[in-house]
Amino acid sequence: MAISVSIPKTPRKKEENIIATYGLHKYFYTGVGETRVLHGIDLEIKRGEFIIIFGPSGSGKSTLLHSMIGLENPTKGRVELFNKDLYAENEDERSMTRLEKIGIMYQQPIWVKAMNVAHNVALPLNLLGTPHREAMKIAEEKLKSYAMDKWAKYKPTELSSGQQQKISLIRALITEPEILIADEPTGNLDIDSSKRLVEGLKELNIIGRTVIVVTHDLQYLSYADRTFYIKDGNLAGIYLQDETKELINDVLNKGKSIFKLEKASK
Ligand SMILES: Nc1ncnc2c1ncn2[C@@H]1O[C@H](COP(=O)(O)OP(=O)(O)OP(=O)(O)O)[C@@H](O)[C@H]1O
Ligand SMILES: [Mg+2]
Repeated sequence: MAISVSIPKTPRKKEENIIATYGLHKYFYTGVGETRVLHGIDLEIKRGEFIIIFGPSGSGKSTLLHSMIGLENPTKGRVELFNKDLYAENEDERSMTRLEKIGIMYQQPIWVKAMNVAHNVALPLNLLGTPHREAMKIAEEKLKSYAMDKWAKYKPTELSSGQQQKISLIRALITEPEILIADEPTGNLDIDSSKRLVEGLKELNIIGRTVIVVTHDLQYLSYADRTFYIKDGNLAGIYLQDETKELINDVLNKGKSIFKLEKASK
């Protein structure tokens, strides 16, 4: 008699905050002067959510993301990661938390250029103290599971930008992080690869990871449990999955009205 084995799903604990920002302001000071980028963002992300941070270019999405994971000290306000005041920790503690618990796909992939793809993928494990041989084995298996193993011995910069994005995702997942963050993951991919990647992120979310994706691509909003709309450094709206049509219409209509204004002024 066949015995059916059911694989238990990771329970989703949506009530618990995993990341929160309170009155988050971020200003940059450069030779040209002060740039005020974030103007008091209050948001809470629950464990197990799929969140999209959506907004036009320059609205502050990457700055917000970096502030949420300990890479940009807020000018004012507080960030809580795993219910702890993130910036009360020192930089070493923050990088250890990132390394252990957060997988990050940066907008511009960061590589150790002298190392090949497999070594770059294994690097987070090496930094966490996994013996080199074991780390390499895990990296090679992970590359294989994403059908990218044939690039293992190449230097990352010898790959196309789309391939680099995939390697960047594989590296982000190598430590089995609780939170996966992807800043414009589909930026350099064709439509089919983009869709596959976003579906892959959704699957990772369904098995229990909190996933946060930054995009200005309207077509992916329906994948998110909630979309945070960032506009001019403010949280202009929070949209539930079945409300994204509203946001899409708003954005598209605004596009049209700007177009009309431009035409009228000619
Ligand atoms: N390190 C920095 N120093 C000075 N200004 C910065 C710095 N980082 C970001 N900014 C400024 O903050 C603003 C928002 O940048 P950010 O990268 O957060 O936007 P974004 O929404 O991610 O845009 P995109 O969709 O193009 O990636 C920009 O005007 C940018 O010039
Ligand atoms: Mg950005």
